[in-house]
Amino acid sequence: MVNVAEFIAEVGIVPVVKLTDAATTLPVMEALIAGNVPVAEITFRTDCAAEAIRIAAEELGDKMLVGAGTVVDAAQAEAAIKSGARFIVSPGYSEAVNGVCRANGILYVPGAVTPTEIMQACAGGNKIIKFFPASVYGGTAALKALGAPFKDIKFVPTGGVNASNLKEYLSLNNVAACGGSWMVADSILKAGNYAEVARLAAEASEIVHSLGKQVG
Ligand code: 3PG
Repeated sequence: MVNVAEFIAEVGIVPVVKLTDAATTLPVMEALIAGNVPVAEITFRTDCAAEAIRIAAEELGDKMLVGAGTVVDAAQAEAAIKSGARFIVSPGYSEAVNGVCRANGILYVPGAVTPTEIMQACAGGNKIIKFFPASVYGGTAALKALGAPFKDIKFVPTGGVNASNLKEYLSLNNVAACGGSWMVADSILKAGNYAEVARLAAEASEIVHSLGKQVG
């Protein structure tokens, strides 16, 4: 697989996946792949996160990019990497998580919304920032304004992103990809409606490709 950051930008979408049962990992991941979104950020909001990452990485690692989300401390980062996560996402910036990612050569996508937070995340060596929660912190207007001082930074707006505003976010030059849970919402996963996951992923992927965007 190509460079992790480039692959994320190429796919354009980072589904934020919260699994409550590791046994559902494969059908959810396979639905994302079927929908042409071969990326997943499996979040540490549930106890089975590390196990789900291990299953996805072992079984589907050649077909998709598996990462970990909501990683808030070094222990979670280590567990995620040990399980096969190829990138780590945090809601904010953590020096400890940054250190683990650096030591393992793993892409870290920390969260930051203010200029000071972005500068701290950059000082840690990071160039891709999760802008979260995007809709609360000014959406596309804020991202446009942040583009002026932070020319080399690419953002992954997440939080309140869905099929209706995806195009607006992805059209910005400083947006590498958009994150979100709308394709894998709790209600859809609870109903085991994997066809709906695939449908929503395909819809999102079509929006990405309609823009014909090359993010550099
Ligand atoms: C996240 O942690 O990235 C968010 O919960 C995703 O936000 P969303 O549910 O609004 O897509």
